[in-house]
Order: sequence, then C-alpha cells, then structure tokens
Amino acid sequence: MLSYQHTYHAGNHADVLKHIILGDVVAAMQKKSTPMFLFDAFASRGIYDLTSVEALKNCEFNTGIGKLWPLKDQSNPLGITRWFRLIKRENLDNTFNRFPGSTALLASMLREDDRLAACDLHPQEFEGLRHSINSSRKLALHKRDAFEALGALLPPKEKRGVVFIDPSYEDKSEYQKVAETISATYPHFRAGVYVIWYPLLPAARHHELFKAFKRSAIRNILRVELDCGNSFPDMQMHGSGMLIVNPPWHAKQDIQSSLHWINKYLTDGAGKTHFSWLVPE
Ligand SMILES: C[S@@+](CC[C@H](N)C(=O)[O-])C[C@H]1O[C@@H](n2cnc3c(N)ncnc32)[C@H](O)[C@@H]1O
Repeated sequence: MLSYQHTYHAGNHADVLKHIILGDVVAAMQKKSTPMFLFDAFASRGIYDLTSVEALKNCEFNTGIGKLWPLKDQSNPLGITRWFRLIKRENLDNTFNRFPGSTALLASMLREDDRLAACDLHPQEFEGLRHSINSSRKLALHKRDAFEALGALLPPKEKRGVVFIDPSYEDKSEYQKVAETISATYPHFRAGVYVIWYPLLPAARHHELFKAFKRSAIRNILRVELDCGNSFPDMQMHGSGMLIVNPPWHAKQDIQSSLHWINKYLTDGAGKTHFSWLVPE
C-alpha cells in the first residue's frame, strides 16, 4: 500500500523536528574526520514544492517552517542556523517555495569521502527524488523497499554511519515492523546510529514501537520528542519524536538546545518535550 505523499505534509512541525535533530546527529558524527555512510531509507522527494496543490491543500507548513520563516533571532543554536542556511540556499530568489527534505539535507552535509544512499518505493515519489537530487559517485538513489534495503546495504564498508528511518506509518503494523527490522539489522551493524522518527497521534501507537524496542536486545536508545499539545488543533498529529540508537556523545547538548528552541518558536513554549533514555546503555 503506497498512497502516502509527503508533499501534503511538507514543512509541518514534525518535519522541523526531524530535519533539525537529524542534522545535529550527522554533524556530531562528522566531528571525526573518518568517512561515513548515510542511509535515508524512506526518502520521498528530496525537495517539496510548497506552492503545489498538494502542499496547499491543508497548508501544514504553517504549523512548522511557515511559523519560523524568515528567522529573526540571530543567536540560534548551531543546528537551527545550519538548517536555515540550507532552506535559504534552496530559495535564492527570496521566495519560500522549495522545502528541502531529508535527502536534500543529508546530501548538503556530505563531505568528500562520505556516501549517501536514499530509497523510495513509490514510483511518483521516486521520480520526484531523481528529479531533485543528482546521483553521483557518493550519492545513490534506489527505487527499492526500505525494509529489504536495510539488510542489503548494511553494514557499510565505512563501518560507521547514520541510518534514518522515516516511514509513513499508514499501515499500523509498521510500528512493529520497524522495531523488528532494526533488531534484525543491528547485530550486523552495531556501531551504526539509527534515527527512527514516529508521530504522536490520538491512537498513541508509538507505544508499540517503544515496547518492541524495550523488549529487543538493543541498548542505548535516546527518546527526543515534542508534544505540541493544543497548539495545532486542526491537525490530528499533535507532535512527534525520534528514537536515536547509539546517539553520538557530542550530539546530546546540541539536540537539547535545538529541541528547546523548536518548542519555544513553534508552540511558544507550551509544548512538552522529552529528552530521556528509552533504554539506557
Ligand atoms: C514520511 S515520508 C518520508 C519523508 C522524508 N524522509 C523527508 O523527511 O523529507 C515516507 C516515504 O516512505 C516511502 N515508503 C513507504 N514505504 C516504503 C517502503 N517499504 N520502502 C521504501 N519507501 C517506502 C513513501 O513513498 C514516502 O515517500
């Protein structure tokens, strides 16, 4: 079942959280000069057109980037500055039409010897990805099932890297499937940093994901979450979070600063944040 199209949701509060925190994780890994592998398993389009019929249907970007743009405050955490620089680069004509997604973010952070692989199985989304992101020696695009690709592409030859898991969770069984697939992959790539996004929805199915990870053999899982409360009453999704397996030590301070900033600017501080171990070391 592949009906989900991320353009309808591009730039919303969840995208703000996921892209900024993902950038913090990658930047922390890059404090070491050794090459690494980045894997965007559920990539979608790379760049989203915020003037498209899809994006304008519910204007979800008004709960996220639309609230923040243009950025006035100059004294922002590093992760926020990095992300805004990327958005500005995509909108050099000073419009605010092109919103960079996870693949564009990761591609912008690649160093000379890093590699990036990005997968999407949806034919239209993959076409969009190919159109907006240039493949190269260090950047491979795959029209492929992410769950299968995790087993096939890991462990990477670099022996270090970040794996980003961002499914649509349209099918309820995906919460379990994500935990099961990461648990099966983990023994082959224990050094990997796995960043797993989840939505906060009224059915609260993210607890299934938590339970499955707690039952697994994986340790060292950080929970980073923003519950926006009643800030966006028109949206079912009232917040989102990321589980980060093996969070780089250097990233923790930056993630906390980013999380605090996002809550302050998206919900005027009314949201509830989590920065805690789901499973300790
Ligand atoms: C939430 S969107 C990804 C958004 C993107 N990561 C970003 O931040 O810009 C989820 C994407 O996963 C794709 N997808 C869903 N199931 C998949 C699967 N089994 N294998 C590969 N891609 C899949 C969908 O087509 C959709 O484009």
